[in-house]
Amino acid sequence: MKPQFPEISGWLFDHEFLALKQLARGKVVLEIGAFQGRSTVAFAQHAEYIVTMDHFGGDEFTEMVGSQLSRETVIEAFARNTKPYMDKITVIVSDMYKAMPFLNPKDFDVLFYDAGHTAEDAKYFCDWALDARDDATIAIHDYKPNEEVWKPSAVVMDEYKIQTGRSTMLVGSLFIATHEPIPYADLLGTEDHPYENIMLDANV
Ligand SMILES: C[S@@+](CC[C@H](N)C(=O)[O-])C[C@H]1O[C@@H](n2cnc3c(N)ncnc32)[C@H](O)[C@@H]1O
Repeated sequence: MKPQFPEISGWLFDHEFLALKQLARGKVVLEIGAFQGRSTVAFAQHAEYIVTMDHFGGDEFTEMVGSQLSRETVIEAFARNTKPYMDKITVIVSDMYKAMPFLNPKDFDVLFYDAGHTAEDAKYFCDWALDARDDATIAIHDYKPNEEVWKPSAVVMDEYKIQTGRSTMLVGSLFIATHEPIPYADLLGTEDHPYENIMLDANV
C-alpha cells in the first residue's frame, strides 16, 4: 500500500487513514482528538467540511506511546500539516468536556473520536453521540479489546453498539458504527475502494 502522508506523525495506520478518507467523502465531519493532524488530513482529502477539537495538551496515552512534544510544537505541526485545507477546517482548541456541550451531534455526518482513551473519556463521547442522526457514521480509534490498557474503552464501544443497535465493523483498530450500509464496505481502507479511483473536485 502506498504510504499515506508519512511525513505527518500519528498513530493512524495507512489502511485506517484510507478508511477515514473514504468514509468522509462529501460529508461534514466532527473530529475529537487531532494531535498533529494526521486523521484531520485524511478527512480533508474528501470531506466537505471538518470541525476538529483538541486541547493539544496530550494525555496519558499519547505520553505512553512516546509523544513528549510541547503543546506549542504540536499546535505548530497541526497548523503546518493542515494548512492546505484550512478553508474547510474549523479548529476548536479546548478540552472536550468544556466545548462539546456547545455542539450538536445532529449537525455532523461523521463523528470521529480519538482523544483520551480511558473508559470515562470514551463514555463521555459515546453518551454524547447517542443523539447523532441515524444516518451518521460513528468512528472511534483504538478498539483493542485484547490489550489490557485499551480494554476499558473497547468495552465502552461494545456497550455503545448494544445501546444503539448499530452495526459495527473494524478497519484495523478503527471501530465504525452505522445504522445504514456503508458503501463498498468490503473495500473500505483499501486502495481498491472506488473512491480512490475517481477524480473529485479540484480541491482534493
Ligand atoms: C491519539 S491523539 C490523536 C491522534 C490523531 N487523531 C491522529 O490521527 O494522529 C489524542 C489527542 O487527543 C487530545 N486529547 C486528549 N484528551 C482530550 C480532551 N479531554 N479534550 C480535548 N483533546 C483531548 C490530545 O491532546 C491528543 O492530541
